[in-house]
Amino acid sequence: MSEQSRRPRKPAKPYRRPQKDPVRFLAFEALRAVDERDAYANLVLPPLLRKAREKGDFDARDAALATELVYGTLRRQGTYDAVIAACVDRPLREVDPPVLDVLSLGTHQLLGTRIPTHAAVSSAVELARVVLGDGRAKFVNAVLRKVAQHDLDGWIEKVAPPYDDDPEDHLAVVHSHPRWVVSALWDSLGGGRAGIEALLAADNERPEVTLVARPGRATAEELLREDAAVPGRWSPYAVRLTEGGEPGAVEAVREGRAGVQDEGSQLVALALAAAPLDGPDAKWLDGCAGPGGKAALLGALAAARGATLLASEKQPHRAGLVAKALHGNPGPYQVIAADGTRPPWRPGTFDRVLVDVPCTGLGALRRRPEARWRRRPEDLDDFAPLQRGLLRTALESVRVGGVVGYATCSPHLAETRAVVADVLKQHPDTELIDARPLLPGVPDLGEGPDVQLWPHVHGTDAMYLALIRRTA
Ligand SMILES: C[S@@+](CC[C@H](N)C(=O)[O-])C[C@H]1O[C@@H](n2cnc3c(N)ncnc32)[C@H](O)[C@@H]1O
Repeated sequence: MSEQSRRPRKPAKPYRRPQKDPVRFLAFEALRAVDERDAYANLVLPPLLRKAREKGDFDARDAALATELVYGTLRRQGTYDAVIAACVDRPLREVDPPVLDVLSLGTHQLLGTRIPTHAAVSSAVELARVVLGDGRAKFVNAVLRKVAQHDLDGWIEKVAPPYDDDPEDHLAVVHSHPRWVVSALWDSLGGGRAGIEALLAADNERPEVTLVARPGRATAEELLREDAAVPGRWSPYAVRLTEGGEPGAVEAVREGRAGVQDEGSQLVALALAAAPLDGPDAKWLDGCAGPGGKAALLGALAAARGATLLASEKQPHRAGLVAKALHGNPGPYQVIAADGTRPPWRPGTFDRVLVDVPCTGLGALRRRPEARWRRRPEDLDDFAPLQRGLLRTALESVRVGGVVGYATCSPHLAETRAVVADVLKQHPDTELIDARPLLPGVPDLGEGPDVQLWPHVHGTDAMYLALIRRTA
């Protein structure tokens, strides 16, 4: 072959080693752990961030970005899955989970952050080269280029069914909740479109950190001296840490005189403590105490009144956490590991009893970004007998004239009103107390006598509380 007849050859692109971006790599590792090992993001992330800081890979801004990427990707997974499904030519279940995690992370950067399009795509492709290899990185590149063709609103218009055709499906895609959860929340909330939209949107917001000043040990005034601290909305013991506030940096928290506790949980303890009693007020029980947030507040309130608290928890390691939370309580208390449905104490022992029962946690979706995708409607059937059993024994544990608080961090009617109604039917010797006047200044608590708090109305988790007096 003569020199002239040869086509000039394009010079081969020199191979470039993929660059590992520590923030995206850490976010990917966290997503894999959540996906593969059913880990919880709020437990997986802190040790990964600590390790990255110790290695010198990360500063505070990197840590904030990695946290945002993980939480945002998990919260918005429902919407992003619908978008990604529209950009790939096979069902999502046939896409390898690690590939899907990189695609979701890239989609969140494109549709849910202000990261410029070019940087969002190239950082995701670079991550794909590191963790998946060059071949699959090309696939990621092709899909994300399609995702980048519209913004979030544009995609929602394309992939969500119209509200009028199917309101629940529409809201499920727009606000990234499983359809059955949308349905259940709407049943409990009632009302029209505006309320449920506000609630679902609130579930996608990052909650502020709220502290509790444990009475007799710390004061709200002391906590308010911290940077970025503002007063709570409803509880006199609550202080909110706005953007950037670090609970670990607060001395009273480090010393256990204050703790991190949502205001909804504080209100549950305060309402139970404020319920009127006939006769003595000396013995209090928290029958499902682990990890001890409400027990620590109840213990401090009981101490101020000269009452004692028994904090009981089935799981021994969680009973250990309760003991830690109550350490230094200003009055007498005891912590035991016991099954609340087969209690070691005698019936009629207590004046006030709290049972904050295990539940689906659908009222705390703001805090646990992956929880909504893990929960199944069948979980309600698993919890139902335990919730009824715990309420039944709580009613047997309180003396005549004493009060039981039944609480859940779920607003699902099957875990709230249905449990209370079923159990009270078998206990004609009880009456519901109106809990609303016991939370003065807190608006929109429902039609009573029980109370339901809401993230979009009260800024709290969706805690439920029914107060029941034993009458005979
Ligand atoms: C919703 S959590 C309670 C949260 C706690 N009140 C707080 O504010 O920190 C429910 C607790 O009940 C415990 N539990 C589950 N089954 C129980 C049983 N049969 N008896 C007593 N506690 C039980 C769980 O281990 C869990 O720690």
